Amino acid sequence: MKDVVVAGGTGRTGRAIVQYLTYQPNVRVVAVISRKYAGLHMSSVINDLAYDIPIYKSCQEALGHVRPAVLVDFTEPGIAKEHFQLSVEQNINPILGTTGFTEDEIEHFKRLCVRYCCGAALIPNFSLGAFLMLQAVRFGAAFFQDAAVIDMYPPHKTEVPSGTSKQILFELKNYGTFSAKNLTSHSLRLAGVTAYQEVRFGGIGETVVISHDVSDRSCFGVGVALAIQKINHFNQLVTDLADLLC
Ligand SMILES: NC(=O)c1ccc[n+]([C@@H]2O[C@H](COP(=O)([O-])OP(=O)(O)OC[C@H]3O[C@@H](n4cnc5c(N)ncnc54)[C@H](OP(=O)(O)O)[C@@H]3O)[C@@H](O)[C@H]2O)c1
Repeated sequence: MKDVVVAGGTGRTGRAIVQYLTYQPNVRVVAVISRKYAGLHMSSVINDLAYDIPIYKSCQEALGHVRPAVLVDFTEPGIAKEHFQLSVEQNINPILGTTGFTEDEIEHFKRLCVRYCCGAALIPNFSLGAFLMLQAVRFGAAFFQDAAVIDMYPPHKTEVPSGTSKQILFELKNYGTFSAKNLTSHSLRLAGVTAYQEVRFGGIGETVVISHDVSDRSCFGVGVALAIQKINHFNQLVTDLADLLC
């Protein structure tokens, strides 16, 4: 049984993650971190939970009450960085779903993992669909010279392009031979959408479309639950969900 704290467990994604994790047999969510709901319990935020969970205003306060093996974070980059540092210092494996970090910040996370000999995950998309999409993208990159990466999210998502698009663009550059003008990125922000990612390859007389559409954020819980089980087998920063699934 792994005890887990979820930072941002009251947010749009965090709620779905917490709910999904409470139904997993090998995971126990022992605390949630949120400033707005601090002092309450998760049953006052979401209905369908396997058990109730206390909410604390900060990571420091939560760690004064519970001793988790893993800290899951779906917040924003500023506070997530602090959560990462605090976790590795206390030999707690951080699993970050939060996106929007700079290259320098990611390098800093890598160094912290080495310094504290602690496994951590920083995965921009924890869904199985996005994992499959990445495998297909790597394969397709070797055969086409034109590609467009498209993301579509609700208007509140300010990060452009999305963290998933950045990862796809990285993979396309790594596995393909695209010139700057033949590899483009397009972001739409539109009410009614949850999360949509697409890669469109263009060839001679044909196009190929690989897409992933999220209808329920609990799909992210699937990858998070797998990461929770595996992360203590690592002592570095894992950025590819494939390393946790395969
Ligand atoms: N990796 C993936 O699979 C995946 C999937 C979906 C989303 N995401 C990423 O997850 C992140 C969150 O997205 P979202 O749409 O769920 O955001 P959201 O609805 O705005 O939720 C953010 C959560 O973070 C908490 N938070 C923010 N600042 C905090 C602070 N200083 N201290 C403690 N808690 C804080 C908020 O609670 P309070 O305001 O009450 O503190 C809230 O619970 C984004 O970076 C998004 O890109 C990743």
